[in-house]
Amino acid sequence: MLIAITREISPRIAECELTHLAREPIDVARAHVQHHQYQELLTELGCKLIRLPAESELPDSVFVEDTAIVLDELAVITRPGAESRRAETASVADALKRYRKLAYIEPPGTLDGGDVLLVNKKLYVGLSKRSNPQGIEQLRRVLASFDYSVTAVELRDCLHLKSAVTQVADKTLLINRDWVDDRVFDFFKLIDVDSSEPFAANALRIGDNVIYPKAFPKTRKRLETQGIKIRGVNASELAKAEGGVTCCSLIISEAADPV
Ligand code: GLY
Repeated sequence: MLIAITREISPRIAECELTHLAREPIDVARAHVQHHQYQELLTELGCKLIRLPAESELPDSVFVEDTAIVLDELAVITRPGAESRRAETASVADALKRYRKLAYIEPPGTLDGGDVLLVNKKLYVGLSKRSNPQGIEQLRRVLASFDYSVTAVELRDCLHLKSAVTQVADKTLLINRDWVDDRVFDFFKLIDVDSSEPFAANALRIGDNVIYPKAFPKTRKRLETQGIKIRGVNASELAKAEGGVTCCSLIISEAADPV
């Protein structure tokens, strides 16, 4: 059984952090509808939803992915790179402590969950404006005893590693090679985003399905041609806040023995 932790959208979403996008008006009512459809899809795909209430004062708090790295053995509560996002972690830690032992990234380390791509026992971590070498080193130390490898990955021109690359099947990644060096991922089959859809590499795999924005039809066709089962969602409004489909949930497997 999978658990999906989500959080309602802050009424201050219009004040969100933006790094690579120009600010444009977000239709908040539409954002709520799209976010609820996303949550319904998670339920339809077999996830038990834990919907955290909105954090009114924290504009980016709908993007719960950035607050924790959840593995089978433990959860690492991050220290987000953007100062305005640091307070988001407390309520997520509170929700997670029923399911996992917790470890924490400490200053001067910073780490955003959006920078962490987990494939089996390997974690690829983007060296971004949000995640620094100290944060990555702390993650490596915390996970060493659980036999995970942690590889730092250089990025360019995008917010997080998972803006540039995500997993869409067992040994297959969806990638924008303009934003990340593909040589790090030479063990995988790589599917390129269509060059007219640079933001199309962020996909959320749930079992055999991939939740994917309807905004990227050309890349979607490439995925479907490769036999990937796509479930489309409208995610246009939170995309204006520089959030993708992975950003809006923390997916965890329900441990046999909760803490
Ligand atoms: N607005 C998403 C982020 O910058 O963290």
